Amino acid sequence: MSAYPTIPLPDFREYPIAEMRSRLEDFYSEVSRRRTLRDFSDRPVPRDIIETALKAAGTAPSGANLQPWHFVVISGAETKKKIREAAEVEEREFYEHRASPEWLAALEPLGTDSSKPFLETAPYLIAVFLQKFGELPDGRKVKHYYPVESTGLATGILITALHHAGLATLTHTPSPMKFLNEILGRPKSERPFLLLVAGYPADDAEVPDISRKPLEAFTSFIED
Ligand SMILES: Cc1cc2nc3c(=O)[nH]c(=O)nc-3n(C[C@H](O)[C@H](O)[C@H](O)COP(=O)(O)O)c2cc1C
Repeated sequence: MSAYPTIPLPDFREYPIAEMRSRLEDFYSEVSRRRTLRDFSDRPVPRDIIETALKAAGTAPSGANLQPWHFVVISGAETKKKIREAAEVEEREFYEHRASPEWLAALEPLGTDSSKPFLETAPYLIAVFLQKFGELPDGRKVKHYYPVESTGLATGILITALHHAGLATLTHTPSPMKFLNEILGRPKSERPFLLLVAGYPADDAEVPDISRKPLEAFTSFIED
């Protein structure tokens, strides 16, 4: 018997190889349609859709299972406006002073600038926070291990879940993002990780004409 409590592996599913291939082809085809959107419609999205996508995000693996993330879902016009205003201050500073010429050159194909109207148009902003440490009910601190990696994985699942539901997202990182702690009342132990914008595309939405690396360019296999 194990020294710690265990349960039988719940609900693992194995598929015949042909089915495995076809499931993965379907999944790849689905995720490859995902594009970062910057032109959102204000069409509402039911809150339970966002909640289920967040539940999916909460299944992510995490260092020592400490689940070091917190998601703040913003749908109110007043808070969205505050976030847009604060983000645009940082973004203006970024585009006009802080960004290196190399960084600006890398952003050029995306056509982004300091104006962020989607922060008010889209029905949901989801502020993702990474918890550097947790707190026990008695106030003691618990160190979190690999919070960056863990929160990144949870966010990846969230983006994929929202896409799977037929919604579009924008991964937004106004830098620095400390203003999110103030506006959203989150503690110092939490670091803003990114701001996810979610909703439907505007009718005339366009995206940058960019490409993805082919498999060979980002993968190596060692078979001996
Ligand atoms: C960590 C991270 C930060 C990003 N920050 C921004 C951002 O602040 N503003 C923006 O317009 N896009 C941002 N993006 C979106 C990328 O520009 C986009 O993912 C990339 O151009 C590829 O396009 P695709 O997502 O449509 O495949 C970010 C993406 C990631 C992963």
